[in-house]
Amino acid sequence: MATTGGVTVRAPAKINLALAVGPLRADGYHELATVFHAVAVFDDLIAHEGEPGEGISIVIDGPRTEQVPTDGSNLAVRAARLLAERVGLDPSDAPVRLRLRKGIPVAGGMAGGSADAAAALVACDALWHTGLDREQLHELAAELGSDVPFSLLGGTAIGNGRGERLTPALARGEYHWVVALADHGLSTPAVYAEIDRLRAIGQVAEPDPEPQISDALMQALRAGDAQALGASLTNDLQPAACSLDPTLERTLEVGRKVGALGGMVSGSGPTTVFLARDSTHALDLAVALTASGVAADVRRAYGPVAGARLVESVRG
Ligand code: C5P
Repeated sequence: MATTGGVTVRAPAKINLALAVGPLRADGYHELATVFHAVAVFDDLIAHEGEPGEGISIVIDGPRTEQVPTDGSNLAVRAARLLAERVGLDPSDAPVRLRLRKGIPVAGGMAGGSADAAAALVACDALWHTGLDREQLHELAAELGSDVPFSLLGGTAIGNGRGERLTPALARGEYHWVVALADHGLSTPAVYAEIDRLRAIGQVAEPDPEPQISDALMQALRAGDAQALGASLTNDLQPAACSLDPTLERTLEVGRKVGALGGMVSGSGPTTVFLARDSTHALDLAVALTASGVAADVRRAYGPVAGARLVESVRG
């Protein structure tokens, strides 16, 4: 397998339009029924051939990236290593320098780490000409994390199992979101542990052993009806995220007051997302949320967008 010059891969953030969390499984994960939706907030990963013997390295640019490891525990590095191993390549024979430009909030519940892993799979697959098909990449993605397969797929898709079993959803239209960022992160395992705790003490209802997506939400997506979608957004992790970070209640309340069609905590939080009628309404909501001072940063993002994909390739 020959190496080539360099590639750039762009991978999107995700939000969950519905996140129904079942009971804790024996393997430490929760059974999910979710609707993933890829939105136009991106990480870009640039991968270049390195010097022989150099191995796989990464540098990271962007806000709060000091929290992201640059050693072998980085998800993009793990993804590159896993791919090399799977195709029988010694990484020192195919050294790669990764440069990550993070646009997705770090520890924001928008699958930024998963986007990076998916981007690294696509980038190294292109650099090394591995010849793996989409399904084989999907399998590697699932080994790296529950949300990584969706970061590869993009669009709008139903996720089952721990989130790795995907079915593209019948969805029409483009949706305009306002994303409110906090100035700190929340740990995903901590939020899942908190929902288990709240369920155990009876503060929230017992989980459905077979979590489901509501018909109302699927119908709204099929019809491309933003109003109906806004009314059917749900997230079982929201009470847990709000319990660990009570300031989120206030952000959600402001979003409702300023006229969002719907709003919720994104995934395990602390990012919150609000649905607008159209792009003009999204601008109005973003201005109002910014003025309220409840969020550290406010952005607009439309969806759905494609999964991790090659945007540039330079031959060496
Ligand atoms: O798979 P991933 O590494 O993204 O998951 C991070 C953590 O989130 C897991 O270790 C687990 O604590 C929690 N999780 C879960 N159930 C899922 C997905 C994630 O409990 N379906």
